[in-house]
Amino acid sequence: MMTDRLLAYFMDNKDQYISGEQLSREFGCSRTAIWKQINVLRLNGYSFDAIPRRGYRLIGEPSRFSVHSLLAHVKTEILGRSIRLFDEVDSTQNVAHKLVREGAQEGTIVIAEAQTAGRGRMGRKWHSPKGKGIWMSLVLKPEIPLPLLSQLTLLIAVALCRSVRRVTGLEAGIKWPNDLLVDGRKISGILLESSAEDERLHYVIAGIGISANLEEKDFPPELRNAATSLLIETGREIEREVLIGDFLGQLEEFYRLYTQQGFTPIRLLWEALSVSLHRPIRVNTERGVVEGSAVALDETGALIVELEDGKRMTLYSGEVHLTKPDS
Ligand code: BTN
Repeated sequence: MMTDRLLAYFMDNKDQYISGEQLSREFGCSRTAIWKQINVLRLNGYSFDAIPRRGYRLIGEPSRFSVHSLLAHVKTEILGRSIRLFDEVDSTQNVAHKLVREGAQEGTIVIAEAQTAGRGRMGRKWHSPKGKGIWMSLVLKPEIPLPLLSQLTLLIAVALCRSVRRVTGLEAGIKWPNDLLVDGRKISGILLESSAEDERLHYVIAGIGISANLEEKDFPPELRNAATSLLIETGREIEREVLIGDFLGQLEEFYRLYTQQGFTPIRLLWEALSVSLHRPIRVNTERGVVEGSAVALDETGALIVELEDGKRMTLYSGEVHLTKPDS
């Protein structure tokens, strides 16, 4: 616990030397105890510069996830308070389902450096190479009826989009229902899986995949046109923990807003971030292809599409393609 707090303190005072004396005062322990904790952090992959009489400065963080580094960035009350890290799993979704069945609480997150059988929406595979992305599943237990689950999907997309914008400065937008695009190419996807009985939700596993630090060569050739990464778009490596921490903070805030004020504020935020509204789209649905222009979301989160003849159609699921100018 003390190690986590010490790390958080260094993170909050980046680029500064902090003396052993100041740290021992701050944490109410001896300088030897501080030195021991710094060595624990060193063993976990953190590097410190130490100068006699000036103190310690954090100069490097491990490139792999560690619970310490995540906890230093996660400032939420519920979401992410329990973190399960894995080097490699088939899918973080599977691990999260299993953990819930064993009693995992709301807010538990499962993160893996790599997935061997990552899955996406509509039965697709999700490419999840080692150490390059954020492959994460979050346990939620919302008290909403099953038909309103799509609202939660949109809420997560809003939180993620705002967070990506804030952390990277990129103009990310949301393609209905919950793909995140930068310049027309996908950087992130969200997959919701739930367990319910008689329209009552037991739990939801929200799977979030963010192509953070993939280089062009890390994508299989068939994905290169349609997908991109935060690294490719910004030209710099993304600190994954910072993005996770920011996203969980945003999500918790919107989750609270949704519980207190319902879907309307989330719908307005979603519409403001959408790249699929008021432009020509083609939607592949289970019942065929629909072409038109999306005009709004309805109160349940469904997409209202205006067809060429002026009639309106409400879509509850499907795959949107932006047909012009970058179809
Ligand atoms: C999509 O856009 O199709 C959704 C992709 C969701 C991918 C994430 S990665 C973490 C979690 N584990 C999985 O197997 N899938 C989700």
